[in-house]
Amino acid sequence: MPEETNAQLDTDESVPPAEPKAAHMPLDRAIETQHDLSAEINALGEAYARALKAGAPAETQPRLDYPPYRSSILRHPTKSLHHADPETIELYSPAFGHQDVHALESDLTIQHNGEPQGERIIVAGRVLDGDGRPVAGQLVEIWQANSSGRYIHKRDQHPAPIDPNFTGIGRCITGPDGSYRFTTIKPGAYPWKNHLNAWRPAHIHFSLFGTEFTQRIITQMYFPGDQLFPLDPIYQTIVDQDARDRLVATYDHSLTEPEWALGYNWDIVLTGPKRTWTENEAFGTAGDSNEEAGE
Ligand SMILES: [Fe+2]
Repeated sequence: MPEETNAQLDTDESVPPAEPKAAHMPLDRAIETQHDLSAEINALGEAYARALKAGAPAETQPRLDYPPYRSSILRHPTKSLHHADPETIELYSPAFGHQDVHALESDLTIQHNGEPQGERIIVAGRVLDGDGRPVAGQLVEIWQANSSGRYIHKRDQHPAPIDPNFTGIGRCITGPDGSYRFTTIKPGAYPWKNHLNAWRPAHIHFSLFGTEFTQRIITQMYFPGDQLFPLDPIYQTIVDQDARDRLVATYDHSLTEPEWALGYNWDIVLTGPKRTWTENEAFGTAGDSNEEAGE
C-alpha cells in the first residue's frame, strides 16, 4: 500500500485532480507503474477464478475494498450502510419533481451554437427490472468527457482541449417500454492519477433516479473492445467477467443512422430489493410483498 493515496479524493472518480501536466510528467508520488497495478489486478482476478471453481458465488457488484483502486483505499465503506427511514429522509433530501424534462435534453450535440467535435453516436436501450419488465418514467441522467477525454470541471486540468460546443450532460425520461435514447459524442479516454500512466477507458456515467433520492443508482457504460479494460482498476473492481460485460454497450447497426451517427445499445437491468419500489411508482401499488422478501 502506498504511503499516501493519490490526490483524487473527490467523491467522483471521473474527475482527475488538478495537476499541471503540460510537461507530461507526474508531480506527485504516483510512481507505481501500470505493470505493478496490472500484477495486482491479475492476482485478484486469479484468486476470484479459483474461488469460483471452489464453489464460491459469482460477485456481480464492484468490490468496495479493491486495493488497486488506490484512491478508494481510505474512503471505501467499511461498515454496513446506515438505513434511513425512507419517508423521513424524503422530507429533506432532493426529490425528483414533476417539472418536464424536454425531449431535446437528450441530445448533447445541440446545446451550443456550433456542433461539438468528435464522433457523433446514439446510445439507446431500455431500463428493465430483474424480471425483464420495462421500468417506465425513470429519470436517466448522463455525464461524460468530450471526444478528447476532457470534462468541463475545474479539477480536470489535463492538457486536452475543452470543446466550447460540448458540455457533456444530458437527461431523459424512459418511455412506457422502458426505453431511453441519447445523441452524443463518443467520449475519449482520459488520464487519472491512480498510478503512473493510468488511463480510464472511454465511458459514460449514468444515473437512474428511481422515485426518490435513496433509490438513486449510478453506474458507467463502456464501449466494446476497449484496450484499456484489463488495465483499469475501476472497471476491474467488478471481478466477475460476466458482470463486467454487462457494463459494456453493444454496437447496434439498427440504431446507426445513415450519414449521421453510429448506434450503441445498452440495457440497464435493475436488481435487488429496491427494485419493486420503482415498479410501485410506475405500475401501481403491487409489489410490496416482493420488496419485503427482498426478491
Ligand atoms: Fe468519468
